[in-house]
Amino acid sequence: ESLTVAILGATGAVGTRMIDQLEASAISVKKVKLLASARSAGEIRQFRGENVVVEETTPESFEGVDIVLSSAGGSVSKKFLPEAVKRGAVCVDNTSAFRMDPDVPLVIPEVNEQAMYKHHGIIANPNCSTIQMVVALAPIYQAYGLKQVIVSTYQAASGAGQSAWKELDAEAQAHLDGDKMDAQILPTKGEKKHYPLAFNLLPQIDVFEDDGYTHEEWKMIHETKKIMLDDMDAGDIKVTATCVRVPVAVGHGESVYFEVADQSATAKDIQAKLAAAPGVVLQDDPDHQIYPQPLLAEGKRDTFVGRVRPDLENAGAFNMWVVSDNLLKGAAWNAVQIAERLVADDLVRVPENSQL
Ligand code: A2P
Repeated sequence: ESLTVAILGATGAVGTRMIDQLEASAISVKKVKLLASARSAGEIRQFRGENVVVEETTPESFEGVDIVLSSAGGSVSKKFLPEAVKRGAVCVDNTSAFRMDPDVPLVIPEVNEQAMYKHHGIIANPNCSTIQMVVALAPIYQAYGLKQVIVSTYQAASGAGQSAWKELDAEAQAHLDGDKMDAQILPTKGEKKHYPLAFNLLPQIDVFEDDGYTHEEWKMIHETKKIMLDDMDAGDIKVTATCVRVPVAVGHGESVYFEVADQSATAKDIQAKLAAAPGVVLQDDPDHQIYPQPLLAEGKRDTFVGRVRPDLENAGAFNMWVVSDNLLKGAAWNAVQIAERLVADDLVRVPENSQL
């Protein structure tokens, strides 16, 4: 059966990659609808060799749509996805709008595909930083259990959208030209103050919570638990995070410290589990200076892991370095991968009386 697929936010950093990933997927597409705001309505994009005109999004845009891939911001998802579900479309949402809703599965196919079976019309993609960390931690957790995770992130500008990515480029150019850098977007859209990212580090991603953590850090803590604990049925895992924006275009890096429950695990054991895990590529050969890097991960669907080594003080504790393309596994590929599984498992229908 051939499907009608809508991409909401089709002109954005993630949306344009959703088009590419859908194009390369096994999904049989009868029609693709490219939806954005009035600003880009009328633009022409390509899908599988055909021209497609970008349309302004309205509730009626979702008539006859089977699957929605959405990445136009949380408020746009909140406004339009219930309209899409009402019209019978199953939505894979890349924004944070519905992630913590108990009726919305939060899915990384390699880790908790089974959670998709109880969807009510919306399935959420986790945050980009959460996805790559959990892809790497899941095989370790399954084999040895996890007691604690301490993560520091090194997050690329494109994670804040196309405009933030352009802002980084413009700042770098201005600085090299001897001009003043003009920051309007980062650290986060809508904040009171803005700072340049070029030649800088910004320890703020998203807004601050009352407890002093940023909302990005909150997402990494709570989404990790929702994915690994609710759906993998374990005891608690302590998680803490520091999220930092770095002047990289594409590809997030993460320094991950973790303590396993089974203290017989060695670094070699953990490397072997990672090497065999779906979606993971082990790049770990210090003698030959082989380790994951954003420039090497860009454009790839995998999560790359290296620098696996035991902590020298704490038994059962390790450090590793995780890199993935934040726009692909962190967003567009994970969403299209979910859509592929929905199609393969005959889950592209909204249950009766869905209340979203
Ligand atoms: P547009 O290009 O018309 O502004 P990014 O994450 O790279 O910033 O991209 C955001 C995406 O969300 C873009 O495709 C943008 O379209 C789209 N978008 C933003 N606001 C709306 C809206 N109110 N309705 C529909 N799409 C929107």
